[in-house]
This record gives sequence, structure tokens and C-alpha cells, in this order.
Amino acid sequence: MTETSPQDQDLDPFLEIGRKIFAGEADFIWAANSLNNLPPMSKVEIAFAGRSNVGKSSLVNALTGRNTLARTSHTPGRTQQLNFFNINNRFHLVDMPGYGYAAVEKQKVQAWTQLIHDYLRGRASLARVYVLVDARHGIKPVDEAVLETLGTAAVSYQIVLTKADEPKQSDLDKRIAETQQKIAKRAAAFPEILTTSSRSGLGIPELRAGIARLLSERGAG
Ligand code: GTP
Ligand code: MG
Repeated sequence: MTETSPQDQDLDPFLEIGRKIFAGEADFIWAANSLNNLPPMSKVEIAFAGRSNVGKSSLVNALTGRNTLARTSHTPGRTQQLNFFNINNRFHLVDMPGYGYAAVEKQKVQAWTQLIHDYLRGRASLARVYVLVDARHGIKPVDEAVLETLGTAAVSYQIVLTKADEPKQSDLDKRIAETQQKIAKRAAAFPEILTTSSRSGLGIPELRAGIARLLSERGAG
């Protein structure tokens, strides 16, 4: 079994619960390209945000153990709508388009970046946002803008360093420390940083456990 990061031993009781939640049904249920066609608010929503190509859709697949539930691509700009997945009838996971550079027209990126910010600041059923950051690159100004939006709206969020299989361990350690420092003054941010790899499976049980813990806190678990 993967070891829990030393910073967050409280996740331990939720590892098995998280595993079970994600071992159940996982279905695509809705795509929205504007605030006017979001699904009705029924379940708790948990969203993945991050720059284009950071690995949001791959993480949806890794968590659910499915290769093609969310469509991925090596070209930035693959996901162009808010995609909602029903996870075991417990909550809705929202895979968002990426912000920052994408290999599509600027106007498109501007439109969906606006949609991302609007959704993040205005959705009552949104319980947590995982802000994905490439472990090789760290937090960039476009990420800071999203953290600002989340902070102002008082939406709880946690940073996830993705593609942790890519950097060498010493660089990863430095990146974690640097990222912790960058979010230290942000009240809506979880102090712990999660580290994941959709490729190796690193951190996936812990992320499932974090979600299970949130659902139990919300009375939805
Ligand atoms: P957009 O929808 O375009 O915003 O991208 P995304 O954030 O959904 O990224 P996606 O999951 O499509 O992955 C982008 C690229 O990164 C793909 O080529 C993936 O194979 C690769 N990738 C995703 N996760 C990992 C990982 O954990 N490790 C490595 N090495 N590559 C990854
Ligand atoms: Mg995507």
C-alpha cells in the first residue's frame, strides 16, 4: 500500500472508504459551456482546475481506474467544457477546461477562463476545488489569479502537484517547499500539498481519501 504523506496522517482512516467510493460506478453526466446550462444542483461538487495540459482529465481517469472516462490529449486545450461525472452516486466530479496557454483560438480560451472563474466563485454546491499544478513548473501567475478568485469567494481548495513521476526527487522536494511557501498566507488553501502521478499511481489513494473525508464532513459520506 502507498504510504500516506507524513503531513496528513488524518487521512489514514479514509483510505479504505475512498477506495470503495471510487471502485463503484463512475459516469459522465453533463457538459456545460456556459453558466446558463450547468446541471441542477443536487450532489456535492468537487472540481479540478489547473493550467491546460496539467493532467486534470488524466487524474479523473486515475481516480476512477478508467482509461477513457475523461478524454485526454498531449495537446493543451483538450477539455473545452465543464464535464460533470457522477461518482458512485455520492458526488459530482467536475473536470474543467484548462486556463493559460492552449492550442486553440485565444477567444475560446478567454471565454472558458471566464466560465471557470464564474463557476468557481458562484456555485453553491461546490465543496472543494483541487488546483492542479505541474510539479515541474510550480505555481504561475495564471494559477495565482484562480487562487485569488477562490480566496475571495472563500471556497476551500487544495494544491495538487501533478506528474510527480517526471522530476527527480530532490527537485520535487524543493517544489513542494516552494509551493507551501507560496500558499502560506492564503486562508482558503489547505496547508498540505498533495503530490500525484496518474502514470505511477502515486498519491491517488490519498486523494481518494481526502475526498472521502470531505464527503463525511459534509454529511454526504
Ligand atoms: P486540458 O484538458 O487540455 O486542459 O488538459 P488536462 O489538464 O486535462 O491534461 P490531460 O489529462 O489531457 O493530460 C495532458 C498530458 O499530460 C497527456 O499527454 C497525459 O498523458 C500527460 N499526463 C497526465 N498525467 C500525467 C502524469 O501523471 N505523468 C506524466 N508523465 N504525464 C501525465
Ligand atoms: Mg482535460
